[in-house]
Amino acid sequence: MQPIDIFPVIKIAYESLPERYSPMIFNKFYESFSEGFLVAEKAKKIVGFIIGIKTSNETVRIPMLAVHKNYRRQGVGSALITQMLKKLRLQNIQHIDLEVKTSNTAAIQFYKKHGFVITENIPSFYQTGEDAYIMKRELQPS
Ligand SMILES: CC(C)(COP(=O)(O)OP(=O)(O)OC[C@H]1O[C@@H](n2cnc3c(N)ncnc32)[C@H](O)[C@@H]1OP(=O)(O)O)[C@@H](O)C(=O)NCCC(=O)NCCS
Repeated sequence: MQPIDIFPVIKIAYESLPERYSPMIFNKFYESFSEGFLVAEKAKKIVGFIIGIKTSNETVRIPMLAVHKNYRRQGVGSALITQMLKKLRLQNIQHIDLEVKTSNTAAIQFYKKHGFVITENIPSFYQTGEDAYIMKRELQPS
């Protein structure tokens, strides 16, 4: 991730995620923990991104992950999360968590495939009234 990549990242976020994030939040995430901000490129075009933010010395939360709709089911999301887990291990991060809509079966299947487990169900977590699952993954030190 380079600072100039923020623009295509914001575009993918707007097209892929229902939440409307302020563009400034992307810069904030990058400045606070640049190791947790990764992009995927195909033919020099940014086609996906993942953001991890540190919530304690050993814990990272993933607030956003998205792949452009034309590039899904081609392993791009897997490449992003695999690379992120590798980097976080080197940073001695031990716990990763995230929230996902209980209706987002694609993301839930995706995270399960990458070793995350559902640990909680939070009713009406989102402003829309939708429920969330908390999913977690433990990391063994390298
Ligand atoms: C979730 C997301 C990032 C997955 O990215 P992707 O590049 O398509 O994922 P991959 O190709 O690496 O898929 C890996 C595995 O995840 C699972 N998976 C991915 N998409 C799936 C779907 N639509 N339905 C069921 N399982 C799915 C499958 O097990 C898949 O392996 P397979 O293709 O061999 O069956 C993508 O669907 C996306 O951007 N969704 C919209 C944004 C979003 O919901 N983000 C998460 C918010 S918490």
